[in-house]
Amino acid sequence: MISCKNITKTFGDLQVLKGIDLTISQGEIVSIVGPSGAGKTTLLQIMGTLDKPGSGEILYEKVNVNKLKDKELAAFRNKNIGFVFQFHQLLPEFTALENVMIPALIGNVKQAEAEKKAKEILDFLGLSDRTEHKPAALSGGEKQRVAVARALVNNPSVIFADEPSGSLDTQNKAELHQLFFDLRDRFNQTFVIVTHDEDLAKLTDRIIHMKDGKIM
Ligand SMILES: Nc1ncnc2c1ncn2[C@@H]1O[C@H](COP(=O)(O)OP(=O)(O)OP(=O)(O)O)[C@@H](O)[C@H]1O
Ligand SMILES: [Mg+2]
Repeated sequence: MISCKNITKTFGDLQVLKGIDLTISQGEIVSIVGPSGAGKTTLLQIMGTLDKPGSGEILYEKVNVNKLKDKELAAFRNKNIGFVFQFHQLLPEFTALENVMIPALIGNVKQAEAEKKAKEILDFLGLSDRTEHKPAALSGGEKQRVAVARALVNNPSVIFADEPSGSLDTQNKAELHQLFFDLRDRFNQTFVIVTHDEDLAKLTDRIIHMKDGKIM
């Protein structure tokens, strides 16, 4: 579904990615692990089209995303790619429901339809009685689940998560990890997850070990 061919990335004179080849299949849950500074976030951002590679190609099925113009790329990303970060990055002025609706509204889904979809997802994630809360009134685990709901709202082909449970306690961590597998079982959702959490990595279908900008 996604294939990366010989991806490199250089910041100044530091080569952070040194030729990455990686293929992700539909419905797979893949973890990326490795020491700090190995290039995990950089790779995730490039695979997720938030940053451009120095050289190499990223294909989503037949679409070469490097060839898309900025506007086309933004639309492609909105429709096909979801993100979950270490810190929820919800908008504080908006309710949980509104936060989840925003990517759908950006994708020109009608208000009523976006609301219905957002409610369905929040319900599936066990958050139906939290929809009107703003982020400050949600627990850490709830905020991360709302962030997952937001990532899901446009039925993306893949969700990229960068240390999604990094700020959670043991209990919330375990619940969030379980949620990824539930979403895969239910919707065949694909995940690529950067994590320092060995328990999570062990559960995934495939562990990619990165070191010094390379896959080991
Ligand atoms: N925008 C940037 N400008 C300059 N250097 C950068 C930039 N982004 C990342 N780097 C450098 O690239 C290297 C890899 O960074 P990256 O964030 O990908 O590592 P990581 O594997 O995600 O580490 P961590 O586990 O600590 O999050 C680091 O040496 C970092 O300092
Ligand atoms: Mg990182």
